[in-house]
Amino acid sequence: MKTLKKFNKGILEPIQDAIINENVFWLRIMMEHSRFIASLLDQSERNLVQTALKFGDDFETLLNQARDVESMLYRKQPTYPIIGKVNKDSEDAATELRNFKASGLELIKTCQIRNVINPLLADHVLREADHFLYMIHVLEDHLNK
Ligand SMILES: [Fe+2]
Repeated sequence: MKTLKKFNKGILEPIQDAIINENVFWLRIMMEHSRFIASLLDQSERNLVQTALKFGDDFETLLNQARDVESMLYRKQPTYPIIGKVNKDSEDAATELRNFKASGLELIKTCQIRNVINPLLADHVLREADHFLYMIHVLEDHLNK
């Protein structure tokens, strides 16, 4: 309701706060996806399990860094240049994870890997990575203006 009221009055969240909020939320989701993908693969898929676990650790680091920035800059003025780097680091990591999810989905649909991942779930987590990347690009455009 608060968000809708703000939209109706044409009030936008300051870009720095918007970047912090989106990143803290979606980096946690990407970390969770990586870890449950690792746990739903058959453990004999060693390379894929290792890759998924590495993504989990990478996203945990990025999440902690975004939370550090949150504690330093949330609701602060002016907009600090470092905020663009938070978004860029997320873009790089999310692009890699997105591609991993896309090739995983293909392998699951064609029964080429041992796993208990529902193809609908694999599709869902891929679309969430795409949505995070979409948000990153919208925020980057807004920041550059
Ligand atoms: Fe989801």
